Amino acid sequence: MAARRKLIAGNWKMNGLKADGLALASDLAGRLKGAGAVPFDMLVCPPFPLLFPVGEAIKDSPLALGAQDCHAKKSGAHTGDVSPVMLVDAGCRFVILGHSERRADHGESDAQIAAKAAAAHAEGLVAIICVGETEAQRDAGQANAVVSTQLAGSIPQGATAANTVIAYEPVWAIGTGKTATPADVRDMHAHIRAELAGKIADPDAVRILYGGSVKPDNAAELMAVDNVDGALVGGASLKANDFWAIGTSCR
Ligand code: 13P
Repeated sequence: MAARRKLIAGNWKMNGLKADGLALASDLAGRLKGAGAVPFDMLVCPPFPLLFPVGEAIKDSPLALGAQDCHAKKSGAHTGDVSPVMLVDAGCRFVILGHSERRADHGESDAQIAAKAAAAHAEGLVAIICVGETEAQRDAGQANAVVSTQLAGSIPQGATAANTVIAYEPVWAIGTGKTATPADVRDMHAHIRAELAGKIADPDAVRILYGGSVKPDNAAELMAVDNVDGALVGGASLKANDFWAIGTSCR
């Protein structure tokens, strides 16, 4: 099997003011620098206004910067939107796309997510494309089919293991304290891996993250599951000790 380095990504969502964000990111950057060789990459994705200050604060560290969304166009009359080239300008290397909160709050479709991902790729950003079923869909036995449809619609032409990461986030596990069982995660990640064939040239090398109530006390078990190549962490990424503990649970 291809060796895939784990990616531990923090999605801060709509949390934190400048002082909090700087303190958190600087703390993590310092730990990463001090730790030397670690078996994971670490990424923080602050809200838009914090990208420039946080990017500046961590630029000499291995801690990577990402955003939580972008527009599909480079510039123009799109009030309130932010383009991929602006993210690059702020120091971003990654952008989360198609998070279930954006699909729900902003009605984002698979086609829009694919267009955003293609635009992100064109600027050299890595797109973290999120998929995942609701509780009702899982209870109806539709989880695999829902995720297959999302993958088919959201992954753009030209996606590779170098420019694309998939995040499986079951909607019912986000912010609820409920996590999928390791067996369910293993089955879904194997399903996603199989579905990537034909959509991405090097499917075995693509990193597939699990997200949904990942905490220090369940991280080691989840990160040890086959085809789990890291975590997309919400609440626990806002506390340096917790997020660091999730990182160091990777072997
Ligand atoms: P929680 O870790 O707070 O459940 O959030 C997961 C998530 O949505 C990350 O993108």
